[in-house]
Amino acid sequence: MKVSIVGASGKVGKSAAFCLAEENVANQLVLIGRKESFERIEGESLDMYDAMAAKDIRISIKASCDMEDLQDSDVVVITAGVPRQAGMSRLDIAVPNAKIVAEYSRIIAEHSPHSIILVVTNPVDVMTYVALKASGFDKNKVFGLGNHLDSLRLKNMLAKHFNIHVSEIHTRVIGEHGDHMVPLVSSTSIGGILLKNYALNGSIDIEGMVRKVINAGSYVIDKKGSTEYGPAYAIANIITTILNDEKRILTVSTYLDGEIEDIKDVCLGVPVKLGVNGIERIIPIKMNDNETKALINAAKVVKENTDKVMLSLDI
Ligand code: 2OP
Repeated sequence: MKVSIVGASGKVGKSAAFCLAEENVANQLVLIGRKESFERIEGESLDMYDAMAAKDIRISIKASCDMEDLQDSDVVVITAGVPRQAGMSRLDIAVPNAKIVAEYSRIIAEHSPHSIILVVTNPVDVMTYVALKASGFDKNKVFGLGNHLDSLRLKNMLAKHFNIHVSEIHTRVIGEHGDHMVPLVSSTSIGGILLKNYALNGSIDIEGMVRKVINAGSYVIDKKGSTEYGPAYAIANIITTILNDEKRILTVSTYLDGEIEDIKDVCLGVPVKLGVNGIERIIPIKMNDNETKALINAAKVVKENTDKVMLSLDI
């Protein structure tokens, strides 16, 4: 199975490549970047080879600045774009990144018309919509990393709060990968016990936790300049699920056409069943009133931002 990462000179792209190599699910990795980044990407690929020898993993890792090397990829990850700096919102980088994502999506469609596109570039819900329209791919083949990472962050916080193994926490964040994310508290369970039946009322400040998840990316960026390992392994989770046809239910940014609360023509984080052919099904979910209102509001905000960005493109 071949995975190409466009924007592999960036921290998220190169770390995602390393995590994927470690997962040993792909036998071909292509790290693609601009000409001026080639030397650095080649260095990354050689360095990764040394690590794979330590793990007895046989994998081809190719550095390239030639988009023809995308040929016949099973999955193409787009991490290319202007990274968010400290103090910037994901939306501040929307228009420049939309032009980059649109251009790469057209190139991917030309060289790898049967691939799945996983968009990471922020603001990822808007960029997923741009990639879908620019590539002309079917909507089950283009989706974005967003709320899966937010869900992992919330899992962590709940695990720490209750001092329970993270694998016992089942929770999900949907909506925007940004300020309008929506934690599905009503569906959260600890060891299979619904949160409302597990935690003594008032013993958990879920609003405070959600604010931490919303700010988690910015918090790390302020300290180390960018997030890296979190998004990298969240990407590896998604690609492993695809390449192994695992039929997991993960939360990815996907194009909605009325499947949930009649929300249409916008990309938003919702639970989907994921396999080797991409999104098999969007999982319709029942939410409480607050969650429903928050999701509908998130859809409104993301759609407004998407429409503004689309006006700046000639798609
Ligand atoms: C994050 O939240 C990169 O947006 C991503 O870390």
